Order: sequence, then C-alpha cells, then structure tokens
Amino acid sequence: MPQYLLAIDQGTTSTRAIVFDAEGVPVASAQRELHQYFPRSGWVEHDPEEIWQGTLAVCREALWKSGLRAGQIAGIGIANQRETTLVWEADSGMAIHPAIVWQDRRTAQRCAELQSAGHEQRITAATGLLLDPYFSASKLAWILDNVPGARARARRGELRFGTVDSFLLWRLTGGRSHRTDAANASRTLLFDIHAQQWDEELLRLFDLPASLLPPVQDCTAEFGATPAKLFGAPIPILAMAGDQQAALFGQACFRPGMVKSTYGTGCFMIRNTGDIPVVSRNRLLTTVAYRLQGRVTYAVEGSIFVAGAALQWLRDGVQLIRHAQESESLAEQAGDSCGVYLVPAFTGLGAPYWDPQARGAIFGLTRDTGIKEIVTAGLQSVCYQSRDLLEAMQMDAATPSDKTVLRVDGGMVVNNWLVQFLADILGVAVERPRVIETTALGVAYLAALQAGIYSDVQQIARLWRNQQRFEPRMESERRTRLYAGWLNAVQRVRSQR
Ligand code: G3P
Repeated sequence: MPQYLLAIDQGTTSTRAIVFDAEGVPVASAQRELHQYFPRSGWVEHDPEEIWQGTLAVCREALWKSGLRAGQIAGIGIANQRETTLVWEADSGMAIHPAIVWQDRRTAQRCAELQSAGHEQRITAATGLLLDPYFSASKLAWILDNVPGARARARRGELRFGTVDSFLLWRLTGGRSHRTDAANASRTLLFDIHAQQWDEELLRLFDLPASLLPPVQDCTAEFGATPAKLFGAPIPILAMAGDQQAALFGQACFRPGMVKSTYGTGCFMIRNTGDIPVVSRNRLLTTVAYRLQGRVTYAVEGSIFVAGAALQWLRDGVQLIRHAQESESLAEQAGDSCGVYLVPAFTGLGAPYWDPQARGAIFGLTRDTGIKEIVTAGLQSVCYQSRDLLEAMQMDAATPSDKTVLRVDGGMVVNNWLVQFLADILGVAVERPRVIETTALGVAYLAALQAGIYSDVQQIARLWRNQQRFEPRMESERRTRLYAGWLNAVQRVRSQR
C-alpha cells in the first residue's frame, strides 16, 4: 500500500508542495512565489493560470526531489488560501476574471449597504460570519455584475464558482470534479454551518444561481483523481481544507479549548470548540474546523489581515530591511519599549474591529526613532493583534482558562524574538512545533486518514512534537502598559471612533 502523501499549500503569497511520509516527516518540498496584483486602491487579485501552473510545477518538483513515483503516493491533500473567489467556464475551465483575493476590499460599499438594510444578523446566524468584504459572496456577486454577460451565463449553467480548492480540484482532475469541503464552504458567506448546506435565502440575497456552486463534502473524501498524464500515473485526491483549518489539524488541536495561531501573510487564531458552534459575543467568527464522516467539529476564529505582510511591506514597500530575517537582530537591538506603534491596517482592520475603511499608521516617532524601532514596532504589531484575538476568545469562553497554551506555526515563527514577545504580551505559554509547515502537514494527515494510513485522530495527536516552549517573562505592569499603548494607537486609525 502506498505510504506517502503529497500536500499542496496554495497560499496568498506562495504555492508549496510537500511530500510527507506516513509519520508526518517532510521528505521533499518545492515552492513558488505568487504575483500580487493591485489594480486599484484596496483591490487585490491573482492570476488563475499562475495559481494553476505554479501548483502543477511545485507538485512535479517535490515529487521529483522525493525520488518517488506517482504510484507510491497514497493521495493528494489540498490546503488553500480561503475565500479567494474564482469563476470559470465549465467548458474550457478558463477563468472569466482574475481571482479576487480575500484581502480585496472592493465590495466594502455593497456590504455596508446590506448591513444598513438589516441583513447581518440573519447572515451571521446561518454562516457564523460577519457581513464583511473578506468573504466570498460579495466578491462572486461583483464578478457576475461586472463581467459582461456573466450573470446570464451563470443562469444558463455555463459557469462554475469555487474558492481555490475547487479551482485546483477542477484542474487536477481535468475538469471532472467540481466539489468543495465543509471547511472552505464555511468561509463563503453562503453556507449554513448548522444545516451543512448552501443557504438558498442567501443565494437569493446575492442573486447567485445555485448551479454555480460545488457540492460540499467532508474534508476527507474521494474527490477525484489526476489523469495519468499529469504525474505519470493517476493519484487520488483525498483531502481538502482551508489552510487555517488544515493548520489546526496539523497542530493536532483536536480537543475543545485547544488554540493555534498561524503567522503567514495574515494571522489566524483558531480555537477548537468541539461539536458546538459557539457564537462569539466579541466579533469573532464561528466556522467549521473540519468535517469527518459527516461529523462537524466547529471553531471560533480571529482573523487579522496583516502579519507577515507587515514585514513584506517593511522589506519591499519602504525598504527598511533587505530580508525578513534581519528583523530579529534589529528587534534585539531596539528592545521592546521604544514607544513606537505601527498599526498595519493596510487593508482595513479584521477581528475584532472589522473596519474595512481603517488605514495604517505609525505613532510615537521621536527625533531618535530609526529603522530598528520601526521594524520592531512591525513585529510587535503582530503580537498585539494576537492579544486582541486571544482576549476576545477568552471573553467568549464559558469558563476562561488561565492554562491556555498557544501553538504557533507559519513562516514568521522562526523568529525567536517575535515568539518570546508574543508569549510576554499574551501572558501565556507559546509552543512551537518541530514542523512549522503545519498547513501542509494538516492536509497530509487528512489525506492519510482517508487513505486508511491512520485510523483516527488520536494516532495523529501522538505524532505532534514540540520544538520549543516560550514562557511569558514580562512583568504584568509592563505588559499592561505596552498593550494600552497599542489599544490607543488602534483607536486612532479607526474610521468611526
Ligand atoms: O483567510 C485567508 C487565509 O486563508 C490566508 O492564509 O496563509 O495565505 O495568509 P495565508
């Protein structure tokens, strides 16, 4: 029986493929950057062909590096940037518009109108989400409204909608499979997370024909297989999940109360709530963590739009650093209390503020502020935003726990200074696992479950390995003072104060 898994992690800024063995150890990997297009202020797009070609290329490269044949791969798992919206022709598979990326704010006005018309409560009750341009529904409606003839073609059944998972599945199966999974569906603003089906009333609200939508499956399923010409032999596609849910799985957060935070382009903190869809009183999202054999595990999620993207801006935008790695030594030199606050609200503010009109700012500049202080403030902003999320989560919990441990992953957490400051400002222990590519690992685990390599999640939980634990060591008076400064800075960038 084949024992290896091929995990695809199609993220916002890069596409990765990793081959894992049955113990969850990476055997080979490949990565490609993905171009970002900003055609107008607040708009963010990706080229669908680049998403597909990049995915195919990294899969082939990772397979080649692993020295394995396609026949030795038990299955493919797809994890993906969520919410990003694509519409393509059923006949040709060609997209009719660039992918509208989750960060894109072009539908802010439309969402505000729907909010004023009183629709948010109903939407939240069904989907667990808020009426924000972040999610797919308003982006899909925008494409149908703005690409000539699209809505009529959609009504005639000629078009297909999907988030990146569905689009890749369509391409990987040569146009034979149009499906999604419950975790990705739960991010569209069209999926009833309680009934586990598309919500017809919401389809009507956004004027979307049901024929556009893919059937929704468990995260583990027989999604289809690749034609032999792609990799030399057919490989079954056995798992799909949104990247953040996949990371929760890869962090083995299977028990209610367990929390992970992933530091990629954005930062996404997710707490497993078991089979209860906990409704947040603090503007967090209720979402599907994963669905296995029809059984749903729910989560609450805090999503912030800019984490690694702040470092990217410091590197590529204002060019204060040449490599993201430099930020660690600069922060060590600057220390944690330079009094500078950078609020990276470049595309508005996510949870718990949900303010699409807010914009970024730097506060506290003095004559002696230099590059290292601004870079440090960029790193700190990631930690302060994490605290915003954790506070909201703890306020939501029926019995707030002082024993919370945060499991972290994603590219940024190689930075020891950042993780220590995170533990300090949160006041909780932070654990960094041995494999920080947890998104890919999680979807590989899911595929392995479907392949029968594991019989249950307990087996997976036993494979999780901690690499380093960071204990908080900052005095609480200092923690309170630094965080109060952040709250003040955020208040000053909000559109409605
Ligand atoms: O919700 C958006 C999220 O899925 C993007 O993740 O890793 O591409 O920043 P990432």
